[in-house]
Amino acid sequence: MRRPLVVGNWKMFHGGRSSVALAEACVRFAEQLPAVDLAVAPPFTALAAVSETIEGSPVQLGAQNLHPNREGPFTGEISGSMLRECGCTWVIVGHSERRGHFGETNATVRDKVSGAIDSGLRPIVCVGETLAQRKANETLLVIKQQVESFLEVFAASPLDAAIAYEPVWAIGTGQSAGPREAEEVHQAIREWLRSKDSNLAEKTRLLYGGSVNADNAASILACDHVDGVLVGGASLDPAAFGAIAGAASR
Ligand code: PGA
Repeated sequence: MRRPLVVGNWKMFHGGRSSVALAEACVRFAEQLPAVDLAVAPPFTALAAVSETIEGSPVQLGAQNLHPNREGPFTGEISGSMLRECGCTWVIVGHSERRGHFGETNATVRDKVSGAIDSGLRPIVCVGETLAQRKANETLLVIKQQVESFLEVFAASPLDAAIAYEPVWAIGTGQSAGPREAEEVHQAIREWLRSKDSNLAEKTRLLYGGSVNADNAASILACDHVDGVLVGGASLDPAAFGAIAGAASR
């Protein structure tokens, strides 16, 4: 049985000071939901404060990005080992905002997944199609290419990792994928993992992300192959995020 995983991606919201109150709220509801793994991914500058706030609680810490190398002359970058030092156990890789605004390709994503695993971080690798690709019936093709780009490194990881299916058209738009659309892609990803390694398919948690909120979380989480959710906007609202985590617990 895969434990449900609920991750809050705070994006570029909440610095060191304002992140503490939000992290404290997460600690409060995480303690009441022992059947759910709950993680938050604040901006880099808030990691230390959030790490201190959640210490000793069930809340887990993630980062939103990393540089693939351990160290080096890469001005402005942060490595996986630095994130580990801050208390992170997770890192989001290949978010569509990174792919879209910062030119990350499938090859970049593969290198980052590899860098994360080498540092002992569990990657949450994001995949997803654009609206144009969905309309052109290319959804499964695009996602298969994305998954295949990191599958080899992923399969060699001693740590359990996660894949988040996040249709680009559903992110921050208020228009979530329906349970049927989500399940179709999740099932396909599960099969691709299985064709590589059945144990990998069983242990990898597949998350859905894209306009998840307190109202739609339960129906998405009810899908057989949806093991959790990656939540953006609604994770900034403690009541909504708590309700989503509660839905994952049922
Ligand atoms: P959203 O973002 O929940 O605001 O759509 C999800 C994400 O980008 O991970």
